[in-house]
Amino acid sequence: MARCFITRELPGPALDRLRVAHEVEVWPERVPPPRAELERGAAAAEGLLSLLTDSVDAELIAAAPRLLAISNYAVGTDNVDVDAATARGIPVGNTPDVLTDSTADLAVALMLAGARRLAEGERSVRAGEWRTWEPARMLGRDLNRATVGIVGAGRIGRTVARRLEGFECRVMLAGRGDRAALEVLLSESDFVTIHCPLTPETRGLIGAAELGAMKRTAWLVNTARGPIVDHVALERALREGRIAGAAVDVTDPEPLPADHPLLTAANLLVVPHIGSATHRTREAMAEIAVDNLLAALAGERMPHCVNPEVYE
Ligand code: DGY
Repeated sequence: MARCFITRELPGPALDRLRVAHEVEVWPERVPPPRAELERGAAAAEGLLSLLTDSVDAELIAAAPRLLAISNYAVGTDNVDVDAATARGIPVGNTPDVLTDSTADLAVALMLAGARRLAEGERSVRAGEWRTWEPARMLGRDLNRATVGIVGAGRIGRTVARRLEGFECRVMLAGRGDRAALEVLLSESDFVTIHCPLTPETRGLIGAAELGAMKRTAWLVNTARGPIVDHVALERALREGRIAGAAVDVTDPEPLPADHPLLTAANLLVVPHIGSATHRTREAMAEIAVDNLLAALAGERMPHCVNPEVYE
């Protein structure tokens, strides 16, 4: 029996399977464990089940001598120092595939909600500002038959592309590191939607120059990771009308403090990192995160491992 530290309660029954086999401590609060608690929990554990809000960095890993497995409850593992884990021979698991559809759905929802001004319209109705139907009130942009640039040609990006076939869109894809394709995509797209992981190469990928290369009528959508977009440049681009708007599920920092200048931009639609937030998806993610941990603690290969070289 191993000791496992789980940094938050997870939806669905998955953790029960872990409890049957191992001694499990679940951080009981709705906010992430403070650093000292994360260190305490990891230091005593063979298995760590972390969330994207937990920084599983080299120091934490070094201070956890018993650690045999890190299972991250996310497809992204940018919150984990995977190199440090690999150096210790610790497999790092993630939860791919099961969140592809819900994240792709949200990306399309953000395109529609931003360009059709849903949040603004809802606010105006609730505020009693809507008096009568007017021919030129709240005009937006069409997603149907638009050109949509998808940055990142992985599972989620390609699923978004399939969704957009129904909207008769022209889709342009730029794979990771394909600078030439990115430049053409930025200049031709009515919507630019980001679907690449956060890595040292993609941090700040969309900065002032890239926003400046977009059409003034274009919308930026981000359901990947906030730091892929330079938020100082984004705030400026929105304020100066350099782009039509941004609809984002992820920000930098996350969450944005209430007095962050970006929140004053009228053409920003922001939601609280809910790309995978459906009952089915979050429960499926929990099952995979537990499968990863159970396998590693049994000395078997994790079904979804981002550093398979630890098995070589
Ligand atoms: C992920 O899995 O990386 C998402 O951002 C949260 O589900």
